[in-house]
Amino acid sequence: MKLLEERIRQEGLILSDTVLKVDSFLNHQVDTQLALEIGREFGRIFANEPITKVLTIEASGIQFAMAAGIALGVPFIYAKKKKAVTLSENVYAASVHSFTRQETYQVSVSQKYLGPNDKVLIVDDFLATGAALVGLVDIVREAGAELLGVGCVIEKSFQEGRALLEQKGVRVHALARIASMSPGEVRFVEDEDD
Ligand code: G4P
Ligand code: NA
Ligand code: NA
Repeated sequence: MKLLEERIRQEGLILSDTVLKVDSFLNHQVDTQLALEIGREFGRIFANEPITKVLTIEASGIQFAMAAGIALGVPFIYAKKKKAVTLSENVYAASVHSFTRQETYQVSVSQKYLGPNDKVLIVDDFLATGAALVGLVDIVREAGAELLGVGCVIEKSFQEGRALLEQKGVRVHALARIASMSPGEVRFVEDEDD
């Protein structure tokens, strides 16, 4: 998605070889028109899939899941994140280890809102190590729902997330795929699949 790549080039702050800050337009302050355009792009990519629900994880996936849900005409669900692993009978849950934050947390979705009749598109802001997204994939499978794909806004292709998801048989689409970065320079993967 060219518009998105341009904004990353103009406004992205590269903090190290691995961390990209996009707080001015995606992740803290949100450019609402761009978020809606991102949703429409996911809508176009998954137009032929009979999606019934979009699933994301709080917090920074929410605006893109909402935009995708609007484009596809379906509800979205955001998985809740909790520090303590409290077992509950009424939720699907997965344990996620964040390498970035060096902590393990639990993500959960109420059993009321996901079930065997659902066909799910997972959406998130970043695909990095894939830990959080694998947790969501596990939740979709636990619910007996069908997973039709994962859409992420920014993929850091030099990290292992995509490979991890593809090993699980998941179709992954990213709107901007970063091949490498260093302060002052972002390189995108040439064969963008959108
Ligand atoms: P992930 O690939 O499944 O997202 O897992 P990972 O453990 O690698 O990432 C941990 C958190 O850091 C995630 O946010 C992820 O979106 C975010 N993240 C990873 N790389 C970058 C980056 O280069 N820049 C920015 N800005 N964020 C990055 P989260 O746990 O979902 O938290 P939240 O921010 O959504 O609340
Ligand atoms: Na996120
Ligand atoms: Na994040």
